[in-house]
Amino acid sequence: MTRHFLDLTDVGPEGIESIVRMAAQGPRPILDGQSVAMVFEKPSARTRNSTEMAVVHAGGHAVMISDAEVGIDVRESAEDVARTLGCYHQIIAARVRNHAVFSRMASALDAQDNQVSIINLLSDYSHPCQAIADMLTLADECGGVDGLRGKHVVYVGDANNVARSLAQACLALGVSVTICAPPGYQFDDATIAELEQFARFDAAVARSDDPMTAVRGASALYTDVWTSMGQEEEAQVRRKAFAQFSITEALLANAADEAIVLHCLPAHRGEEISHEVLEGPRSRVWAQAKHRETAMYGVFGWIGEGV
Ligand code: CP
Ligand code: NVA
Repeated sequence: MTRHFLDLTDVGPEGIESIVRMAAQGPRPILDGQSVAMVFEKPSARTRNSTEMAVVHAGGHAVMISDAEVGIDVRESAEDVARTLGCYHQIIAARVRNHAVFSRMASALDAQDNQVSIINLLSDYSHPCQAIADMLTLADECGGVDGLRGKHVVYVGDANNVARSLAQACLALGVSVTICAPPGYQFDDATIAELEQFARFDAAVARSDDPMTAVRGASALYTDVWTSMGQEEEAQVRRKAFAQFSITEALLANAADEAIVLHCLPAHRGEEISHEVLEGPRSRVWAQAKHRETAMYGVFGWIGEGV
């Protein structure tokens, strides 16, 4: 059956482990003779470049398509965009404003049984490719994937798309995760119950609104922007709400001595993370950015197993 990588719920905990292990094997000619359409409704530096270069190194060909060129639900429907790109490409990798568009595109393709897969390169709901890269980065610090079990990641900031995928991936690999967010920007009970479905090897998910307490003993601190793409009108309000939810040297001092710092980037120094921490010895953000390409070998491999 054709596999779509729309969210880590499509993959499940065992699938996440399998993708991370496959990714760690690095480039292989798994896209030989295939092409990938890359559609971006929002800006991107890391995702666009890492995906395109992974396609090249896996023996495939990538075609970059801007929002204006296809105009999902503007120039033509999401379904028609998917079926059109499916005439030429084996994979459609897209960054979209509205996550719901993905299931419409996937349904339109599946109805034709044309074996074209969709990959989520970030939506308002989740960022699954990022989470695979995050696990690879953390595994490097722990002697490999098996070393992840029993670790603890504390995410400080907005309970957003990045936080959701991060929590799913952490729990699947045995890493406990605490989401530390101000009231009103935290995951609700239903989301926590969904996240708990990913937990293996005694990992657990918790919530906190007190960063100083939450980070005690943490193996890694993680943050993302307070205002995601598409939320720009809320920036002022969010700056106030998140003022105490910043990874600073004082916060890092409260974590474990060996704790590392992760950020999916782009970063806003002085907001969710201080310049000193981002540039400091505990920061692994560039290794993390580099692993965005590694991650894609796992994602392409998982998709290929379904065809
Ligand atoms: N982390 C990430 O997705 O970065 P870009 O928005 O630059 O792709
Ligand atoms: N949460 C951010 C992530 C950017 C990579 C956003 O959606 O804009």
